[in-house]
Amino acid sequence: MTKLIIDTDPGIDDAMAIFYAAAAPDIELLGLTTIFGNVTTKTATRNALRLLEKAGLDLPVAKGADVPLMLPPFTPSAHVHGEEGFGDIPAEAPKGQAITEDAADFLIRMAREHKGELVVCPIGPLTNIAHAIQRDPEFVKNVKRIVIMGGSLEEGGNITPYAEANIYHDPHGADVVFGSGGNIVMVGLDVTHRILCTKEDFTSIAGQSPDLGGMLQEMSKFYLHFYETVGKFDGCSLHDPAAVIACTHPELFETRSVPLTVTCEGEESGATVVDPESLRAGTAVCMGVQSEKVKNLFLQRLALLP
Ligand code: RIB
Ligand code: CA
Repeated sequence: MTKLIIDTDPGIDDAMAIFYAAAAPDIELLGLTTIFGNVTTKTATRNALRLLEKAGLDLPVAKGADVPLMLPPFTPSAHVHGEEGFGDIPAEAPKGQAITEDAADFLIRMAREHKGELVVCPIGPLTNIAHAIQRDPEFVKNVKRIVIMGGSLEEGGNITPYAEANIYHDPHGADVVFGSGGNIVMVGLDVTHRILCTKEDFTSIAGQSPDLGGMLQEMSKFYLHFYETVGKFDGCSLHDPAAVIACTHPELFETRSVPLTVTCEGEESGATVVDPESLRAGTAVCMGVQSEKVKNLFLQRLALLP
């Protein structure tokens, strides 16, 4: 059983990842922390609470940083995820609220309480993780692993030709994480662009899971439309679910261990770069994936939901 905290900016594929974690029998979800990216941190917090309530999970949600480590805030990616984060699904207030502890403090405390066992899966910009590392030098030693959705080694970017969106939105934060010496896995565009779901896949999910799967099908329409406009893919990428699946099924991914730095300025800002001169510990970068197996796991487990 993997003890997991997801750091998230929900977000359509974030919702897919969180519902997957709710369904997975090998995941013990301990809570969610929130971050800006697809939406503002305030909206991400509301959406995270709403997703947990929808899934019938009474778990802590800790609100994260409102702005990147050093850059001014970016405008949320409304053209990819909709104004409210869930495509055309209207905003709805959750019943519960976030805990008083902020995301970094919650992560630090949970890493201490579950020393050597906690896997942290950031599926948004890495600001909260960077804050946790900067506040507590023991944090990266206390966690078992940090499995990041973000970055790109050879695939090129998705928000600029050089950068993947999560890294682009806080390159300084990402650089702190890759330089932390922790046990870091990067699930980037090199693999997530090979794991695609189609309209028919979401119809099948909704057929088996009318409530939660139905919600994903509804929001997927907006996301699929965005991918159609990009024109390169036959479906939409399962970015964030792939990272959650990598937490429990590393055997489905081939990794390359490389020292990484992040470009923090200029045209290539947000690029994840192999930098042997940095003398940094290697990040395990996913470069190969058994796409069909990852996708089937996603489809099979979501079918278990109501
Ligand atoms: O580049 C893909 C990532 O950016 C995903 O985490 C998606 O949710 C967006 O945040
Ligand atoms: Ca995300």
